[in-house]
Amino acid sequence: MHLLDTVGAAKLPVTFVSGEGALLWDQGGRTTWDFYGGHAVTLLGQGHPKWVAAIAEQARTLSFVTGICDVPVRDRAAERLASFTGMDRVFFVNSGAEANEAALKIARKATGRPVIVAMEHGFHGRTMGAVGVTWHYREQHAPAHGDVRFVPFGDLDALRRALGPDVAAVIVEPVQGMAGVVVPPPGWLASVQRACHEVGALLICDEVQCGMGRMGVPLASHRSGVRPDLATVGKGVGGGFPVAALLLTEELARTCKPGEHGTTFGGGPMAMAAVEATLKIMEEERLLEKAAALGARMHELLAVPGVVEVRGAGAWAGIVLDRPAKAVAAELLTRGFLVGTSSDPRVLRLAPPAVAPVYAVDLLADALRDVLAVPVRTEVAA
Ligand SMILES: Cc1ncc(COP(=O)(O)O)c(C=O)c1O
Repeated sequence: MHLLDTVGAAKLPVTFVSGEGALLWDQGGRTTWDFYGGHAVTLLGQGHPKWVAAIAEQARTLSFVTGICDVPVRDRAAERLASFTGMDRVFFVNSGAEANEAALKIARKATGRPVIVAMEHGFHGRTMGAVGVTWHYREQHAPAHGDVRFVPFGDLDALRRALGPDVAAVIVEPVQGMAGVVVPPPGWLASVQRACHEVGALLICDEVQCGMGRMGVPLASHRSGVRPDLATVGKGVGGGFPVAALLLTEELARTCKPGEHGTTFGGGPMAMAAVEATLKIMEEERLLEKAAALGARMHELLAVPGVVEVRGAGAWAGIVLDRPAKAVAAELLTRGFLVGTSSDPRVLRLAPPAVAPVYAVDLLADALRDVLAVPVRTEVAA
């Protein structure tokens, strides 16, 4: 009764009390396959024993100290994350939005320019700066935005028109998540980076949802051969522990002076133990390959009548339906499958843990076939 309701009608009619791998149990002991991964977070699944052990051990030995002293586990986590992503420097924070705030601040300061170019239907978080470059919700907070230009995602000509000597950076999700797992045309991201550099602007890749192995590669920008000037990761980076990071090239890192930015909890020992354990487990258990295998099977959902397109790769899929997705998601939940929706009313968003067995996709396919066998009743308004 005391919690502020920020969910409203979107609240799911289920209360989960435990989980293991890709399975969740509710209060009545009923099992649900998790095809949503807690908003695309848990690539490792629930309660991975090595992840649990690393956090418990860290809590016992050193739970928290100020970020202005060295903590060996922070160095180790940064080294692993830099090597996994191919970036030079790491700044740990607590959420994806906070990582994006840092990226926007640094880009403006480094270039001395005011304007950020962002994408229509892009999502970057709910804090003031992040919501200012987010297509939905920004109108609620308009006065605090600063100078932002929006262009259609995937449209290089429109982007070139928006770029100029006043632009500090372009912020982009290499594959848009909330929009419904929207993949841009091949080569587009590399062209965006070239266009940015031609006018002295920076490229910020928001990899909070599409990165950290979700697509079967460390960063989604790697699929386009792009190494961004700044990248942000969150969600999966701590395997479910609240932690995120800003990743920078050495050149950009040199523009950051001590005292210009900071955080109390960012880089705390327990979060760092979670990051280190997550990256170790991803390597030891070949989770990128497992994610890719899961993705290949999820693409077979195209064979289900009523599915018109399957987008994405790895443990991440946008399932485009011939009808509203919310009602389908609700039906799937009653059959024991938790799936996500998106800001596109026809798209189901699947983000299962990479540890989910491939046969779970076949079970989902059967349930989806059942649900979609009922004729479409409501047309989505164009
Ligand atoms: C692409 C992207 N960026 C940023 C965020 C914000 O992350 P957080 O909710 O951790 O602040 C999200 C969250 O869904 C996201 O999908």
